[in-house]
Amino acid sequence: MKYNKDYFYIQIKHLKEGPIYPFQIHVYNNVNHQHTLYLHANGPLDKQKKQLLEYIIERGGEIAIKRKQSKTFLQAQKLSEADIPSLGQRKEHQLEKNQKMYQHLYEQRKEAKAFIFDHELKSAVNTDDFSEIIEQVKSEVLTFEVTSSSTISLAIFLAEALLTEDNYTNRIVAISYYVAKTINILDQEALADLIVASLLAHIGLTQVERSVFQGSLTEMPAQTNSSYKKHPALSQHLLRKSGVKLTDRCLKTIIEHHERADGSGYPNNKVEEYIEPLALVLGAVSHIFEHTIGLHDGNKRGFDTVITNIRNQSVSSGLELGFGDKILNGIEGLLK
Ligand SMILES: [Fe+2]
Repeated sequence: MKYNKDYFYIQIKHLKEGPIYPFQIHVYNNVNHQHTLYLHANGPLDKQKKQLLEYIIERGGEIAIKRKQSKTFLQAQKLSEADIPSLGQRKEHQLEKNQKMYQHLYEQRKEAKAFIFDHELKSAVNTDDFSEIIEQVKSEVLTFEVTSSSTISLAIFLAEALLTEDNYTNRIVAISYYVAKTINILDQEALADLIVASLLAHIGLTQVERSVFQGSLTEMPAQTNSSYKKHPALSQHLLRKSGVKLTDRCLKTIIEHHERADGSGYPNNKVEEYIEPLALVLGAVSHIFEHTIGLHDGNKRGFDTVITNIRNQSVSSGLELGFGDKILNGIEGLLK
């Protein structure tokens, strides 16, 4: 798919005022769909480079110029917008149309009812129904700048497909998202990585033996427990094998979501400064929900009880607190 809102495409005949150009020349590779810088501004397009460019075009490649350099390009080449069809007539991509629609729906939703996270979380805990929070996260993610990066478009795709009901994973996704925002992680790409990682972090559990799901972690035989502890690496391995394009930060968030700031986590006993902050957020939130279902000691408890236990540092039930002060403060601030 030759689609990128940052570029327009020209023919070699449009490079007539050379060999030095005050704009960068990029090439679009029709095999890997990537744009690559071919010639820096003011770097001469000598005979050899021009021949290679012609060869690339013959093989299906294209010459691309950054849209933000369009004025420089047109002036230098004594051309008008009408001479470059891809410059003037960029069609809006379907994903951009969708984004506008979702933005409209988001505004409508906001007008109909103000979303106040603290209030909604209390209500969710009291009714044991997180649908409203999950729906809000979905509606926000769908307004993300879809053409910015592949991680954002993947987060939008997954949010649209999966954040459709109140379930265990979606609760982790939604609360991770809000904890991240609470501690000032606001960048859309970071939040998108967190959404994708929190949806996919436990896919590795599909590869561990069934006995892992019987009984609590603290009572499990050491061998079963160590099998459970393989799930972050298995998740990462499966996702790498799947060919789905995930960022390094997303993969790091997945494999490190059981690392703890004090070095007590797994698989690599990393300490805080070496752990991806998004992994600590996901780790903290998924740990809270593990306690709501009694994964660690067999006792189910409410979300509010787990938060209270964290505040009181009641670690007897297998509760971990090693998420670093910033994230721990964010968690302790929930339901206040
Ligand atoms: Fe996990």
